[in-house]
Amino acid sequence: MNDKGMIIAGLIIFFTIFTFPIWYNHGAAAPPPEPELSQKAKAAKTCVEDTAYMRTEHMHLLNQWRNTAVRDGLREYTGKDGKTYEVSLSNTCLDCHSNKEQFCDRCHNYASVTPYCWDCHTYPKEKM
Ligand code: HEC
Ligand code: HEC
Ligand code: HEC
Repeated sequence: MNDKGMIIAGLIIFFTIFTFPIWYNHGAAAPPPEPELSQKAKAAKTCVEDTAYMRTEHMHLLNQWRNTAVRDGLREYTGKDGKTYEVSLSNTCLDCHSNKEQFCDRCHNYASVTPYCWDCHTYPKEKM
């Protein structure tokens, strides 16, 4: 190996060791979040839409809720199963999912998202 090769090899080794904590943590990363259901949610058994849809689309659904409530004044939402709900982040979502920290936050912390909704909207203080 010539000098150039040695330097490059050295750099690669150095870089690997230097960044080890970063990619090691990534690989062995925190286990996927396990959002906990409150007693009320457990009793209700289902969400406003099916779970798979909620998992991936709840942010869009909330957007849609906000728009229908604020722009169109529609305050009722009918899920695919025919049940109706009041269109409200605090009074509906957070009434059932009253354990925001063990539910919403557990996923959001994992995904590193911090919805700014709580600047204005309220959520219940710790209850299960
Ligand atoms: C700057 C303050 C503010 C922020 C931040 C905010 N909202 Fe709102 N939101 C309001 C106001 C004011 C209304 C209208 C309240 C009404 O007419 O009942 C509203 C209404 C809503 C509604 C329909 C009515 C209700 O009570 O829930 C939804 C759903 C909603 N917002 C969702 C969200 C979501 C989701 C976020 C975060 C991504 C968010 N909002 C962030 C102020 C805010
Ligand atoms: C009547 C109670 C109730 C209401 C109201 C409700 N949920 Fe749910 N939600 C549940 C239940 C129960 C589950 C879990 C269903 C299951 O285990 O399959 C769930 C599941 C979810 C999930 C998926 C969780 C996961 O493990 O992947 C998300 C996200 C969610 N809800 C968000 C919301 C949002 C946002 C709202 C308001 C638009 C809302 N929920 C309103 C009861 C409710
Ligand atoms: C199963 C995991 C999970 C649960 C439970 C969950 N969320 Fe989320 N949420 C996410 C993920 C992941 C994102 C980011 C999606 C993206 O960036 O595309 C997100 C994004 C959002 C956003 C948009 C934020 C933004 O800045 O774009 C809102 C609003 C939101 N969630 C509200 C809620 C509320 C309210 C609850 C509890 C009732 C909840 N979520 C429960 C996983 C979850």
